[in-house]
Amino acid sequence: MITIEQIDSIAKEFEERLGGVTDASSLEALRVEFLGKKGKVTLFLRELGSIPPAERSEFGKRINDLKSRVEFQIAEYSSKLKPVSGKKSDVDWTLPGIQPAAGRLHPLTQMIQKILEIFTRMGFDVVDGREIETEFYNFTALNIPLDHPSRDAFDTFYTRHGNLLRSQTSTVQIRIMEKHKPPLKIVAPGKVYRPDTVDASHSFMFHQIEGLLVDERTTFSDLKGTLAFFLRELFGANTRVRFRPHFFPFTEPSVEVDMSCFNCHGKGCNVCSRTGWIEVLGAGSVHPNVLTAVGISPKKYQGFAFGLGVERMTMLKYGIHDIRYFYENDVRFLNQF
Ligand code: PHE
Repeated sequence: MITIEQIDSIAKEFEERLGGVTDASSLEALRVEFLGKKGKVTLFLRELGSIPPAERSEFGKRINDLKSRVEFQIAEYSSKLKPVSGKKSDVDWTLPGIQPAAGRLHPLTQMIQKILEIFTRMGFDVVDGREIETEFYNFTALNIPLDHPSRDAFDTFYTRHGNLLRSQTSTVQIRIMEKHKPPLKIVAPGKVYRPDTVDASHSFMFHQIEGLLVDERTTFSDLKGTLAFFLRELFGANTRVRFRPHFFPFTEPSVEVDMSCFNCHGKGCNVCSRTGWIEVLGAGSVHPNVLTAVGISPKKYQGFAFGLGVERMTMLKYGIHDIRYFYENDVRFLNQF
């Protein structure tokens, strides 16, 4: 049976012994002697069960007080202990620190920022759209009627409630023109979705940047100048640009835009499939039906629009041969950017 006197004497003993401690290792030895598995205080606690219930709480309180006091004093003493002179500290303060692993922006984010920076320098505003859209914004308002064959090329994922994942950022053209009056000059980056089978050059999700300019006296040469400037900023000052006739339902006339191959400068190589040219975007003058659909008079206003694929631009610029690298989160790939 333990007695109150025993508890008091252990407390006294601890005080005295602590006074003799000079370094970290003797402090640790003292800690083990009192608080360790078989330490003096620990043994008291174990014996608590054999104390008659009537006295148990009084004893419990005293032992726990002792334990907290010992713990507190050891901690306090330890913080005051200075490394003993003559003996070297265990810590080598001259070692270089551990460098925290710094993250970086994803290559697609970097490319989006670079492209937006070029367009904002030309006075374009950056706007946001939505990824879940209705059929109206993805098709109908963009002059793609329900039975039009060009719907197939943009067909997409539908939700059970009849919404869809947008298959092109051209939806933002409509959203912006509904809300704002011309003059308008915007670029809109974002994700788009298509039911494409994934392979080296296709993904069911990828990123586009849409451009739209609507004003009173815009011509096709404004479109040409804007895109030529953009491509030269991104791929180099001697980049040449050509426009091929194409079809998009929401632009008339429509074009596909090629730039001269930055790798062979037009001679023909494997980057440009030996043609000297690389197709980089789709564009055209805003179709009068699109302006009419949002209540803007095509008699007073004209404009141009363009859409480019961010993955494609990034793959071209850095010679990446497989689109899947962008989505795999492999740091060996990501670290290179
Ligand atoms: N939305 C078209 C596409 O995804 C690109 C485009 C945008 C073409 C604007 C013309 C004008 O292919």
